[in-house]
Amino acid sequence: MAKILRAIRGMHDLLPEQMGRWHWVEDSARRLLESYGYEEIRTPLLEPTELFQRSIGEVTDIVEKEMYSFQDRNGELLSLRPEGTASCVRAAIEHNLLDRPQRLWYRGPMFRRERPQKGRYRQFHQIGAEVFGLAGPDIDQELILLTHRLWKILGLSGLRLAINSLGDAEDRHRYREALVQYLEARQDMLDEDSRRRLATNPLRILDSKNPDMQALIAEAPSILDFLGKEAQEHFSQLCEGLGNAGIAFRVNPRLVRGLDYYNRTVFEWITDALGAQGTLCAGGRYDGLVEQLGGRSVPAVGFALGLERLVALLESLPAQAAPALDAYLVAVGERAQAAALVLAEQLRDQSPDLRLCCHCGGGSFKSQFKKADRSGARYALILGEEELERGVMGIKPLRDQGPQIEKPLASVVDFLLAARTADPTE
Ligand code: HAM
Repeated sequence: MAKILRAIRGMHDLLPEQMGRWHWVEDSARRLLESYGYEEIRTPLLEPTELFQRSIGEVTDIVEKEMYSFQDRNGELLSLRPEGTASCVRAAIEHNLLDRPQRLWYRGPMFRRERPQKGRYRQFHQIGAEVFGLAGPDIDQELILLTHRLWKILGLSGLRLAINSLGDAEDRHRYREALVQYLEARQDMLDEDSRRRLATNPLRILDSKNPDMQALIAEAPSILDFLGKEAQEHFSQLCEGLGNAGIAFRVNPRLVRGLDYYNRTVFEWITDALGAQGTLCAGGRYDGLVEQLGGRSVPAVGFALGLERLVALLESLPAQAAPALDAYLVAVGERAQAAALVLAEQLRDQSPDLRLCCHCGGGSFKSQFKKADRSGARYALILGEEELERGVMGIKPLRDQGPQIEKPLASVVDFLLAARTADPTE
């Protein structure tokens, strides 16, 4: 027997039985984003590696060790996108979208070679939004309100919102110096990773999950004591706005995020229901990134949520079954079988909404009827030589014991659609 191949570790198939819930989540998010005036953008899965090096940052876990990168045949270094923000910025610059404010959203697979565990995968899916050209705290607030509304629509409760401000570049520079001074004085308490980061990216030390480091981190200087006047005002207006909107939040001065492009507002929605991988949605402001990637100076802010984590949270809610088929067409006899696909097309012409599966692969009436039964369809449409002759179809209910009836071809679709309205599960 030939060797069976399996999906790559950390990359998963989504099977038909899971898709109902995925579609429900994706459709709810899409409708919500569009209702707030966000427009969809799709960018390639592959980008020049340099895009992520220059945006996410050279000294981050993602760029240092988690990207799927390879050399193309022409020598160009390419990477599968580990996130969507950098690609959105690249596309917005490339297509001159930045001469007016833009509210964009996207969804799709992202790739990070992390150690797989529950809620952490090597291919995962995000829905995200990026806003360009708006500098005030009002748009930060809008993004948080939008995500909060999504949780409400999906029936999720118990999510906690953590926010922080990373200040502006000068604020962060002064904070970095103070932090390094504090940590250098306590070098012996640092783990190996943090000792390395002390010289390259000390703020990331605050994000360490090592339990032995937590006391040291808790006592470290707070970035909020280093904010300049403007960043401070921006942050307090955001906090006030969230309070006015009735959104509960906690200010966490250790929230630094794992990507380097952020400034001022950062936020995370966190759940306790998913174990270690509790961050469901995360984002923040990145006012310097457009310029850093060659555009003019345009403020920006956004978020992304992890679909696998969101769907896992919803697993306790009732499954959203895909809508049932209206009918399964069974054809008996050579001539009827030859005509079945054409007649099915004629029925579909009558309503683009019709959900009809036409039997393929021949077989006896009995075996076809069994398949009709298993398809979950509401009715079997029966086409024999005699029905074909007279321009009619037999209609046999599959969900109850009702009698088989007969309808002229022209009224089969009306009959099926009317039956849908009478069905309480529709
Ligand atoms: P991030 O925090 O790296 O931010 O990812 C956002 C969300 O994607 C996480 O909160 C999590 O739900 C999900 N996620 C990340 N990595 C994995 C993984 N390996 N497996 C499963 N889910 C994962 C960003 O990606 C930024 N681009 C967000 C952003 C947009 N900031 C501004 N605009």
